[in-house]
Amino acid sequence: MRVARTIDELRTARAAFADLAFVPTMGNLHAGHLALVRIARQQARRVAASIFVNRLQFAPQEDFDRYPRTFAADCALLEAEGVDLVFAPDEGVLYPEPQAYVVEPPPIANQLEGQFRPRFFQGVATVVLKLFNCVQPASAVFGEKDYQQLHIVRGLVRQFNLPIEIVAAETVREPDGLAMSSRNSYLSHAERAEAPRLYRLLGAIRDGRQTPGGALSALSAAGWQPDYLEIRRREDLAPPRPGDRDAVALAAARLGNTRLIDNVELQLG
Ligand code: PAF
Repeated sequence: MRVARTIDELRTARAAFADLAFVPTMGNLHAGHLALVRIARQQARRVAASIFVNRLQFAPQEDFDRYPRTFAADCALLEAEGVDLVFAPDEGVLYPEPQAYVVEPPPIANQLEGQFRPRFFQGVATVVLKLFNCVQPASAVFGEKDYQQLHIVRGLVRQFNLPIEIVAAETVREPDGLAMSSRNSYLSHAERAEAPRLYRLLGAIRDGRQTPGGALSALSAAGWQPDYLEIRRREDLAPPRPGDRDAVALAAARLGNTRLIDNVELQLG
């Protein structure tokens, strides 16, 4: 496995490969990331991953500084999965000067996650475009856990005519249903025991046993601070209209100091 720390090193290493499937990450890898790598392996003979904690997608009060950085362990996991190339630039490599040109995502980026994390998707779309330009993959794999991110990245690729196939990967869950996330490591013992409630409530909405309003109240009653829990159309994440069937329930809520997000797809009507 080659590890490229600069864009020159990346381009030299990348030149040895034809089609590459790509898994962008912020590191602190867990089984969810490794599932993305395995899906990437089905897309192309060669797989690249990136490890880069992208300051642009963190608001000043968010956890950029304390975001877990576990580079050596991440490389060992990627190597064991047979990844061919890791791009792990320092901040000064990807942002050698203040990033004055940014991707302005569409208004849906200001709803759901974007309502609570202003400019988050601008930061995501900008770094994803930069990473795509550096790595030049034929396909890239993104997890459905970050459902709105997947939607924004699909739009980015479509509207900028990038020759990259975006592949969606199902959310990987702990045995009790909690969606795997690097931020789960912030949870205390008691919070970790409580955390699966979010997925249970989303499942209850999917099965018609709970309403979004009821689920929000249940979260608050259990000590969570919910940001949102909404049902949206799958195709564009707009509120459903009469006759729509394919929908997704998306939620974000804070448990102690940890903000968790999750979603489940469902059928309306
Ligand atoms: O999903 C993530 O880990 C990040 O948002 C991404 C896509 C690597 C961009 O920094």
